[in-house]
Amino acid sequence: MSIQRADQNTVEKAGELLRAGKLVAFPTETVYGLGANALLDEAVQEIYRVKERPNNNPLIVHVPSVNEISQVADLSVLNKTQENWLTALSPLWPGPLTVVLPKNKNISEEVTAGKSTVGVRIPRHKIAQRILRAAGVPVAAPSANRSNYVSPTRAQHVYDCMGEEIELIVDGGLCIVGIESTIISLANDTPTLLRRGAYSREEIEKQLGTEVQDNIQRSSGSKALLSPGQMITHYSPRTPLRLKDSIELHKLPSRYGAVLLSAREQPSELLHGATHVSYLSNAGDLTVASQNLYEALRELDKEELDMIVIDSCDDSPLGRALMDRISRATSN
Ligand code: TXA
Ligand code: MG
Repeated sequence: MSIQRADQNTVEKAGELLRAGKLVAFPTETVYGLGANALLDEAVQEIYRVKERPNNNPLIVHVPSVNEISQVADLSVLNKTQENWLTALSPLWPGPLTVVLPKNKNISEEVTAGKSTVGVRIPRHKIAQRILRAAGVPVAAPSANRSNYVSPTRAQHVYDCMGEEIELIVDGGLCIVGIESTIISLANDTPTLLRRGAYSREEIEKQLGTEVQDNIQRSSGSKALLSPGQMITHYSPRTPLRLKDSIELHKLPSRYGAVLLSAREQPSELLHGATHVSYLSNAGDLTVASQNLYEALRELDKEELDMIVIDSCDDSPLGRALMDRISRATSN
């Protein structure tokens, strides 16, 4: 019910509440998570209820270090190649990476939505690390937003959409990465990318020394839905969001906002007509833009605009991750 600064008391309290089966929202370097004890089915069910999340969409489980992975995943069923892949990825942890592995019997099908695999995440954020250690149990945590809305990058964002229903929201300021973790599955014969994030496919391929199959969902109708949460419409603000390149400037509605990568080289027609303009980065730096994207969308979404117009990103590794989020948000 309250937002609390992340001092030692708060961290200890968060650990106790989690152990006891209560919901705690906490910062990670990507976005805020809505955490529950992954070993207690009733606590996990609360996540689905509060998030209004369909129960066929599995949760990922957070642990503080690679030493705890075996509490969540069954490493004994991995073949030698898969074991080597897991070892090769461990330098990227703690960090914005989720790895899908065969699940351990401790982790119930409530967490994995009936799947035999589990997504394991080891966040780098210091407060997340301390909370996970204080809890002493694996923590299931999706992004702390209602299903299909924009992920939260500040404690206040969590409070705004579900504050009444969470025992404690731990405040760690703005999340430094700002978009959700890269998801890679090692559960099959080929490593598979299920969600883009700050760690690019290229970086992961370099680490693994092998090619990574790209299985990013592009349509909600696809049969090969390896990651059920990756349906095309996701992360959307309520206000219709359109790519700047896809609209004719003279046809813009009377009240619109613009979310722009930088102040450079913007059409004056767009800038003069906009009710609100939000720059994601002064210099067009994509790392900064990624931190600010979700907050900018949330802020403009409060303004009762007829439309939000947003810039596209270039085809760089982080640009592709940002475009993935932007294009999902524009498909409303
Ligand atoms: O950065 C993040 O990953 C954040 C922070 C809080 O850690 N969490 C997050 O969780 O984004 P969530 O639930 O919003 O997104 C996790 C995604 C979902 O799309 C879900 O479908 C997919 O991971 N997922 C979970 N378990 C899976 C599994 N066993 N196989 C394939 N996809 C899975
Ligand atoms: Mg999410």
